[in-house]
Amino acid sequence: MSHAEDNAGTRRDFLYYATAGAGAVATGAAVWPLINQMNPSADVRGLSSIFVDVSAVEVGTQLTVKWRGKPVFIRRRAPEEITAGRAVPLADLVDTNAENANLPPTSEATDQNRTLDEAGEWLVMMGVCTHLGCVPLGNAGDFGGWFCPCHGSHYDMAGRIRKGPAPRNLPVPVAAFTDATTIKLG
Ligand code: FES
Repeated sequence: MSHAEDNAGTRRDFLYYATAGAGAVATGAAVWPLINQMNPSADVRGLSSIFVDVSAVEVGTQLTVKWRGKPVFIRRRAPEEITAGRAVPLADLVDTNAENANLPPTSEATDQNRTLDEAGEWLVMMGVCTHLGCVPLGNAGDFGGWFCPCHGSHYDMAGRIRKGPAPRNLPVPVAAFTDATTIKLG
């Protein structure tokens, strides 16, 4: 059984819109690909920071928040996802750069260099495909991570591009834990 099949039906993506200073409003995910096609650059600089409460994010699920007009995926990875991500040799990667705004620009795309915490449980990244800016789907694709249906890009458990036209790993924005259950973006 593949990793994707293993996960199917047992995990769900939880969708929230979190805007600085405003209440959270749930809505459909389908609007995002349209919006992001018009605004494809993954701008991870400038503008405001937000604080995200991740206390309700269960292991093996992900929270999507809207930040600076774009979705950000916050995934709490299960142990098997961490193991799978860490088992991938750098030589298998399309983009060997960590694409992590919290690290020096030349950092390699090891699994450890993609996650927010040392244990590798928390993966925070822009939910914007590096091809043309669609929003990839979670728990999907050939590598058990994310799949962008627009033109068929497959990302692995660490959000690294593995197959398809996207040229780069999903970017990790400036992010940090401010306490045990709060992540600051920006
Ligand atoms: S926008 Fe994702 S594959 Fe083209």
